[in-house]
Amino acid sequence: MRTASLSPGEENEGTMSSATAEPEATEQAELARQLTEWAALGFHGLRSALFFAESLPLVWLQSPPARSARKGSERAASGSARRRGAAPRPPSREAVETALARLRTLFEQDAKAIGRGVMPLSVLTPRDWLGHGGRFLRILGDARTVVARRARRESRDFGARAKPWLDELPAYYRRNFHYQTDGYLSARSAELYEHQVELLFRGGADAMRRLILPPLRAHFGDDPRTRDGQGLRFLELGSGTGSASHAVARAFPRAKLTCLDLSFPYTRHARQQLAAYDRVECVQGDAARLEFADGCFDAVYSVFLFHELPLPVRELVLEEARRVLKPGGFFGLVDSLQTGDDPELDWALDFFPREFHEPYYAHYAAHPMETLVRRAGFESVEQGTGYLAKWIAARSAPKLPTAVDDPGRSAALNPPNSPD
Ligand SMILES: C[S@@+](CC[C@H](N)C(=O)[O-])C[C@H]1O[C@@H](n2cnc3c(N)ncnc32)[C@H](O)[C@@H]1O
Repeated sequence: MRTASLSPGEENEGTMSSATAEPEATEQAELARQLTEWAALGFHGLRSALFFAESLPLVWLQSPPARSARKGSERAASGSARRRGAAPRPPSREAVETALARLRTLFEQDAKAIGRGVMPLSVLTPRDWLGHGGRFLRILGDARTVVARRARRESRDFGARAKPWLDELPAYYRRNFHYQTDGYLSARSAELYEHQVELLFRGGADAMRRLILPPLRAHFGDDPRTRDGQGLRFLELGSGTGSASHAVARAFPRAKLTCLDLSFPYTRHARQQLAAYDRVECVQGDAARLEFADGCFDAVYSVFLFHELPLPVRELVLEEARRVLKPGGFFGLVDSLQTGDDPELDWALDFFPREFHEPYYAHYAAHPMETLVRRAGFESVEQGTGYLAKWIAARSAPKLPTAVDDPGRSAALNPPNSPD
């Protein structure tokens, strides 16, 4: 309206100022992006240094004296236990340098994704930092027990706190994954779990979990109607204590999110951790037998779930994910690298299952998840890696129109002279 009353000179002035304003706005946006990226990178550096420093005493606890105690107990162990193989040699200096270089690259990828708005900077907000020191001391206190359990190769050592849950759970699950005290079956294990995982990955675990976000964002595109998740329903399978969904809830603040895990205590802990998000619900359940109706979710994803499942359960979970997804819905996973995904890190895939109780890991590592995902009927399968993790993104096949939806298609498939 205003332009109509402008003289040609004024109009010109207006055009010129908007022409200069545009590059200025672009420059400002670029500066903001760069600053955000630097802030994220700085945060990653400090956080990783902290976890790295904290991991040193734990590494020490497994160093020569503990190792020789372990050798002694291995000598005493049964022949079948011995056949499982000697303690792996520690990785070479070059191997460690490669892993650290990949960790740096992961942090850069994560910071870039934050910079370009895939997720807000607030995904980095620390969860429960007040309890950090206390948790670390409890992890240190428990470390000797874990080392002893590992030395005995004892994977069914549950305390009284875990026993009430055991009978209700599938057999493959009733074990001390990672030799951790109580497996996934006590409140104490739930409290320490995320911290332990960050110690193992030197502060890279959360950034690996967030590898799910770029493909999730890409699936829904930049449609302003769904950018904040409005009207969308997501399901996380094997959500543990809720760390991945914490980031998803920040990136899609209006999406309805269901976090499902087999562990009662982990589900309860996730519920406490995610209490600030009223669109997030945490439920106990089995990903291989979902109690949701067909086609009710827009996205289903999992993080670090499949490497802990025997093959038939991996297949069932994929089948269930496809069943509860809407046609064309997003399926994604982040999990451990598999053999050949990053050949320079293949050594780590051998090291991990021997040091940490991971009974299905060797089979998982040798059988590409992308093949299983395709076989389960997903399409447009994409994948990538970040540090010690891989991500896979796919979509469920769009529903084929039935005769009721599309009588024309039915006629085409069944021409009048067809015997059918
Ligand atoms: C390695 S943890 C990963 C947890 C979490 N997603 C994370 O990023 O830390 C594997 C999780 O899968 C859960 N889980 C294993 N089998 C499951 C099943 N059949 N259904 C649901 N959750 C399962 C375990 O209870 C555990 O919390």
